[in-house]
Amino acid sequence: MSETSPKLRAELEGIPTYKPGKPAAADGPVAYKLSSNENPYPPLPGVMETVTAAAASFNRYPDMACTSLMNELSDRFGVPLAHLATGTGSVGVAQQLIQATSGPGDEVIYAWRSFEAYPIITQISGATSVKVPLTPGDVHDLDAMADAITDRTRLIFVCNPNNPTGTVVRRAELERFLDRVPSDVLVVLDEAYREFIRDPEVPDGVEIYRTRPNVCVLRTFSKAYGLAGLRVGFAIAHEPVAAALRKTAVPFGVSQIAQEAAIASLRAEDELIGRVGSLVCERTRVVDALRAQGWTVPETQANFVWLRLGESTVAFAEACEQAGAVVRPFPGEGVRVTVGESEANDIFLKVSEAFRKEL
Ligand SMILES: Cc1ncc(COP(=O)(O)O)c(C=O)c1O
Repeated sequence: MSETSPKLRAELEGIPTYKPGKPAAADGPVAYKLSSNENPYPPLPGVMETVTAAAASFNRYPDMACTSLMNELSDRFGVPLAHLATGTGSVGVAQQLIQATSGPGDEVIYAWRSFEAYPIITQISGATSVKVPLTPGDVHDLDAMADAITDRTRLIFVCNPNNPTGTVVRRAELERFLDRVPSDVLVVLDEAYREFIRDPEVPDGVEIYRTRPNVCVLRTFSKAYGLAGLRVGFAIAHEPVAAALRKTAVPFGVSQIAQEAAIASLRAEDELIGRVGSLVCERTRVVDALRAQGWTVPETQANFVWLRLGESTVAFAEACEQAGAVVRPFPGEGVRVTVGESEANDIFLKVSEAFRKEL
């Protein structure tokens, strides 16, 4: 037998692996998972019933075109069906966007630090990442991002609110930035946390997309809608881009269960909005408490908060874990902590208070 292994693409060498948020310990005292920006509420009863009924047919392939979900989204957002594309979570759609636009020699621009999947999906395609540092206030530096555009740039991610800092880009600065982006460069407004925004100056990407053919909006059912485990997200984009997304989709990628859960969740919006409202109140409580303890916390419009802890990051994450709440450390930089159940948030606040006193 030959000793050589199958030839793999050189681009795959050195790709950082995606680190999922650590699960809560099964054998700890109390264990809360505040490491993946999930929705702490269990599925809504109506959605659960829909999912259970849909499970009875999982011997069949799903509707590949996601027809009913697409119709529902088209009505909801007032966009033509031809401007919609679904995928296996919005990260799946983001990967399709890169596949559709960028390959070896091309450049993909995004802020850094931002969503961890951007460098991975860019490298897989063979394109080059151009990471533009956040400002000292942890906000997108849109002027620097516009300055970074070259004739090789194919796609720019604007993560709004930004993961992991929770900071936002407001209307006037975004419009000014978009005016500087050439019309043949795709700008992806990643709005995974859109429903948690309360700042009226943050634009709705769907309104921006309407007049800008090079803008694509990414949304997900994973966060506010609480369907992270079912993997369904979508893009709203003008026709050539949306059509390219349909070409690059994994056939039958979105399960029938996910499609029906997404429809049921859109229809249960009143209850979901109530849950999101409670999480936003908790967010205010957590941020106010952290500031009262003496921390500098960037203003967050998402369902998580960012504590810049530098060298103390790992020790802080370990202290949280020992206290019963798992958070997400970025060693040397800071921790991202999801706003979860109030008991979980209390654990985090207790650790942050004790830690603050020791600094
Ligand atoms: C900014 C951002 N975009 C996209 C995603 C992907 O979410 P999903 O693939 O579950 O839709 C996440 C998940 O954490 C995220 O933080």
